[in-house]
Amino acid sequence: MSLNKEVMNRQEIEKKLEKIDITLPPPEAEPDRQYYFIKKLRVWVEEKKKELGRPLTANITTFGCQMNARDSEKILGIMQMIGYEESDSDEADFILYNTCTVRENANLKVYGRLGQLKKAKSKNPNMVIALCGCMMQEESVVDKIKKSYRNVDIIFGTHNIFKLAELLSIKLLDRPESKKMIIDIWEGTTEIVEDLPNERKYTFKGGVNIMFGCNNFCSYCIVPYVRGRERSREPEDIIAEIECMVQDGVIEVMLLGQNVNSYGKNLKNPITFAQLLERIEQIDGLERIRFMTSHPKDLSDELIAVMGKSKKICKQMHLPLQSGSSRLLKIMNRHYTKEDYLLLVEKIRKAVPDIALTTDIIVGFPGETEEDFEETLDVVSKVQYDSAFTFIYSKRTGTPAAQMENQVPEDVVKDRFDRLLKLVQDISTEKTKKGIGSVEEVLVEEMNQQDDSLVTGRTSQNYVVHFPGDASLIGKIVPVRLEESKGFYYMGKMEA
Ligand code: 5AD
Ligand code: SF4
Repeated sequence: MSLNKEVMNRQEIEKKLEKIDITLPPPEAEPDRQYYFIKKLRVWVEEKKKELGRPLTANITTFGCQMNARDSEKILGIMQMIGYEESDSDEADFILYNTCTVRENANLKVYGRLGQLKKAKSKNPNMVIALCGCMMQEESVVDKIKKSYRNVDIIFGTHNIFKLAELLSIKLLDRPESKKMIIDIWEGTTEIVEDLPNERKYTFKGGVNIMFGCNNFCSYCIVPYVRGRERSREPEDIIAEIECMVQDGVIEVMLLGQNVNSYGKNLKNPITFAQLLERIEQIDGLERIRFMTSHPKDLSDELIAVMGKSKKICKQMHLPLQSGSSRLLKIMNRHYTKEDYLLLVEKIRKAVPDIALTTDIIVGFPGETEEDFEETLDVVSKVQYDSAFTFIYSKRTGTPAAQMENQVPEDVVKDRFDRLLKLVQDISTEKTKKGIGSVEEVLVEEMNQQDDSLVTGRTSQNYVVHFPGDASLIGKIVPVRLEESKGFYYMGKMEA
């Protein structure tokens, strides 16, 4: 694992820490204010380690999407800078759940885990329990935690992750004996705090936030309410971060945003996502570029043209369909029709013929009829997705769809879901078979989990491939012949 900075490197952070003096910088002086707390906590951690005769540990669990995964890298970076070691123990000194609330079952998982923690906390009295992420942006959730999960120490939301050191400092240094929960949730922000530490999971690939929030208000979706309005990072900051990552050995980046296709619109000097990609493409040493998520309504011809001529953009696109019925798409507030979507796919395939397309589909949206559902099956058959994430509609309080009365009965939804899943799986299996015999460039990511004579990597199309190899290949792109398909992945052999 490597410690990358969003823009600065480790030496620069240490220099910054040295310069921070004993006066607390004001809230508008971020990130210096956080470095002040990091510095104070470092002293405390060293003393605590001596007292306990062991290292202090932090266990961070991430629920949900790639945005949350990226936020957790930032959280881990801050904790390590303070002096904690990463751990997967349920009795760690710092336990954090970075939560998701996009569907109800994501919430239920967190409550289940919190219940289990009660026992663990009695075993480790030093334990600090923290919660953050999308679920915490909901008032009803925080109320429930305040009432039923008194063992939680710190709660913060999606807008102020950068404040972790400050909140931990209140808990550990200012009021160690207090049982009062520290709750700091912001309704929104226009601020993007750059230059904090973060610990990336891989040394050779990584996610880069290009924007935060979402302005689309699809009628079923809670994201705009919990992640706030769309804010794009400055292109210079994004480029500087990627250059810094490349210097540290990264060859593949995943550009992250809820709707990357509308990147740059709210910048002082607006630029398009396609223009950003062209600039990123120029970075020497960077070999692969991925991005997600694309909203069909904002996917421009300019972007398709850039993808068509790019040498670095991977042949993969995640293009959420949600429903194949134009009638439902309208009620979902998606701003495209079935025909628009199919035309878009045609244009993309013309520019990048072997592109792998993946999607998200919701089954059982209020008022979905059998005819609507058949339109969805029809799009799936026509597009022939490489894979699709299928979801049962989940009612999210506060969204317009939650007010809709014509909810689809559970048994009907279940039946449609099974039919859709079968179609999606049959298509993926057939598509994977077609790849057999071809030689693909594979970025090797890790040793195979089950068989240590094999390594595991991904093709440009994002297919997983297992093939004989050793640890020296990790982080390299090598040619691999795809020999056998196993549903969604391949077994292969490296070409000489
Ligand atoms: N119910 C079911 N699925 C949902 N998604 C978003 N909101 C809901 C909901 N209320 C799905 C969408 C989105 C993906 C990340 O989650 O398909 O693209
Ligand atoms: Fe939710 Fe729609 Fe925004 Fe995606 S684009 S996060 S589905 S509101």
